[in-house]
Amino acid sequence: MAKAYLNKSLKGRDFLTISDFTSQEIRLIIDAAHELKKELKEGIPHPVLQGKTLGMIFTKPSTRTRVSFEVGMYQLGGYALFLSAQDIQLRRGESLPDTARTLERYLDGIMIRTFDQKDVEELAQYASIPVINGLTDLVHPTQVIADLMTIEEHLGKLKGIKLAFIGDGNNVAHSLLQICAKMGVHMTIACPPGYEPSAEIVAGARQDAAETGAVLEIVEDPLEAVRDADAVYTDLWASMGQEKEQEQRAKVFQRYQVNSGLLKKANPGAVVLHCLPAHRGEEITDEVMDGPQSVVFDEAENRLHAHKAIMALLM
Ligand code: CP
Ligand code: NVA
Repeated sequence: MAKAYLNKSLKGRDFLTISDFTSQEIRLIIDAAHELKKELKEGIPHPVLQGKTLGMIFTKPSTRTRVSFEVGMYQLGGYALFLSAQDIQLRRGESLPDTARTLERYLDGIMIRTFDQKDVEELAQYASIPVINGLTDLVHPTQVIADLMTIEEHLGKLKGIKLAFIGDGNNVAHSLLQICAKMGVHMTIACPPGYEPSAEIVAGARQDAAETGAVLEIVEDPLEAVRDADAVYTDLWASMGQEKEQEQRAKVFQRYQVNSGLLKKANPGAVVLHCLPAHRGEEITDEVMDGPQSVVFDEAENRLHAHKAIMALLM
């Protein structure tokens, strides 16, 4: 059977948000990620991006995204450059279109992590090479490819399982809603009033869910969300850029901690995910994070395989 990561159907596309892709296309990316992981473990080289370069622009910090894209590019035979927004002329007012029109002359792809989704869209509009969204305030699409890959590894399937997200209806929750809707995964988000996911994202996801049969719910009570859940997911209470709200959010989200008491209410054998970085003792306890149901470091590892799949298919 032809290798999924050699498939050319996504060549040249941008990866800005999950909603731009069909269920079949997401299936292809996840399949490619599983293949690349297997080959890496077996010591089979796959230098499909030999001679290609990826520029990585960061206006926010990163551990996993930065390292996994850089290492992933190396393993695919290419080269990745870290472009801190502090150090390129973007910071001194060079426009995004001019940055795009310059970088496309050197690079074969750009990965960008920044605040405003519109900036990522603008970069993609002016760059003729693929642009990959490495997180914005709105979405975190590369993360959730690794997340569903991890769930599939541990539970053996996606369709019909139930994911409970406990916490802020933020970028990670948005991308999870979009991908769960596309892949037929039921998802319930429990969040405090005022911290619900964007109504526009929910409406878009509900349209996809109508086709796949996924049930998407937003509730207030974490106990209600974890009932019958096969996977329990949480994220920081205060995301990057919200540092000033940290104290106030810690109060609002107090009930939304993934601890062993809450986990007991999910299905036995439910897996626990966290995109990381974690604030242990806030949104997740040590006991859960280091416990037998936690798959958070498999999930972190799978960022590498997922990003390689995205780059191999697009670039
Ligand atoms: N989950 C994630 O994107 O991690 P980093 O912020 O370390 O890249
Ligand atoms: N919601 C978090 C995710 C970190 C990977 C943030 O945006 O900071």
